[in-house]
Amino acid sequence: MAGPAAPTGEGWSSRTAFILAAVGAAVGLGNIWRFPTLAGENGGGAFVLVYISCIILIGLPMVLSEVLIGRHGRSDAFHSVVKVAEDSNVSKNWGIFGGIGILNAFLILTFYSVVAGWVMYYVGVMSVDLVGAIFSGDPFAGALASENPETIPSRMTDLFGNIPLLLGMHTLFMVVSIWIVARGVTDGIEKAATYLMPTFFVLLVLITLYGAFTGEFAKALSFLFTPDFSKLSPAVVNDALGQALFSMSVASAALITYGGYVSRETNLAPTAGMIAFADTGVALLAGLMIFPIVFAVGLDVAAGPTLVFQSLPIAFHNMPAGSLVGLLFFVLIFFAALTSSISLLEGVVAWAMRRFEWGRGFTAWLVGGVIFLIGIACALSLNVWSDIRPLGFIPLFEDKNIFDAIDDLVSKILLPVTAFLTAVFIGWRADKKLVKEETGLEGAMFGLWRFLIAWLAPLAVAMIFVFAVFPNLIGQG
Ligand code: PFF
Repeated sequence: MAGPAAPTGEGWSSRTAFILAAVGAAVGLGNIWRFPTLAGENGGGAFVLVYISCIILIGLPMVLSEVLIGRHGRSDAFHSVVKVAEDSNVSKNWGIFGGIGILNAFLILTFYSVVAGWVMYYVGVMSVDLVGAIFSGDPFAGALASENPETIPSRMTDLFGNIPLLLGMHTLFMVVSIWIVARGVTDGIEKAATYLMPTFFVLLVLITLYGAFTGEFAKALSFLFTPDFSKLSPAVVNDALGQALFSMSVASAALITYGGYVSRETNLAPTAGMIAFADTGVALLAGLMIFPIVFAVGLDVAAGPTLVFQSLPIAFHNMPAGSLVGLLFFVLIFFAALTSSISLLEGVVAWAMRRFEWGRGFTAWLVGGVIFLIGIACALSLNVWSDIRPLGFIPLFEDKNIFDAIDDLVSKILLPVTAFLTAVFIGWRADKKLVKEETGLEGAMFGLWRFLIAWLAPLAVAMIFVFAVFPNLIGQG
């Protein structure tokens, strides 16, 4: 049954719809682009171990906390926190962390859409390539078969050098995202998730199997699951935490907002577990999809953000049916990015609709338009604005361009701070009876969850932050 009037008077039409939308929010570029990039840069196994620990100990209890705040408050991230605070007889100022969450969603989408634009560009490149391969009578050719492997990575530098193309892709992606959000919760967001997510999972399994049969699967397994603790440092641990929060979509309004559309009958704890499980599973599968292919052709696992865009096409060039698989691979990332970007936008739109009493369509286009404009600055920082250092006065951001400064500001600082405040609020300030009822947890399970959210999550986040970020923030690292 649909939930009663929530943030915008709308609700999911079923529990499955909610799960698909929430998993869609969680699974995105974070899993398929950022996770392999960070795991590759930080030595594999040890990073993965810390990442999984952060997911279980911090991410999972956070997901449940946020969904319950949303369902109780039945509003956007800010007003839902205020409602829980009111019903718990504590200061309404706690709403501030809901507000920072909305800011996080806003900021993330500015650069998220740019990267999603690269994905769309590669969907285009691979489509043209496949059509060419079919017409030349060899549909199972390697990707970009007529090209020299050395020139393939230049696709990306060409894109970065071409401002109209770069901005065009960013525009296209934002327009599609806004259009879906403007259509509403059931007709837009839910429908998109219902079509895109199952297709996504089928593609993920197919490409992972392809990698397992044609690539260096064993090497990838050992890279991802054999920890070398010498690779760990406070900064790496903080990266793993930031990545865990980013990937689970916590601390950035989306899950509170989506929780606001959940019916009273839905049991939240198992649902939160499913979201966490699916998200982690996809990140690991993405690793097992990408690294066997990277190893197979002897590419550098630590290539950084270009791993997926520059290295993988070379790999597809050298592999059977690479043209087809390459296209499917980028379509898969596109679907994941789209269901995440609509959750980011919805987190901001739901708030603005309530705050200013605007209609959905107008709000979606206005808010999306502003994000789009700031996104232009992120896109240009890959090109003519590459020398601008917007936060250059802060040591941690000294050498960061606009794109990296926003990314780092959110994942290294704002997400941990928001997560810390959420955990303290739910663990210590929110009414215990209210919280318990919303979670639906009983006995020892409730005790365990409360221990995680009241003690472990805030302490772990605070420690990681103080050791890793604070010294760098003030230039003492
Ligand atoms: N979790 C998404 C990903 O891994 O790509 C990104 C994201 C979506 C972050 C929604 C935050 C959010 F609210």
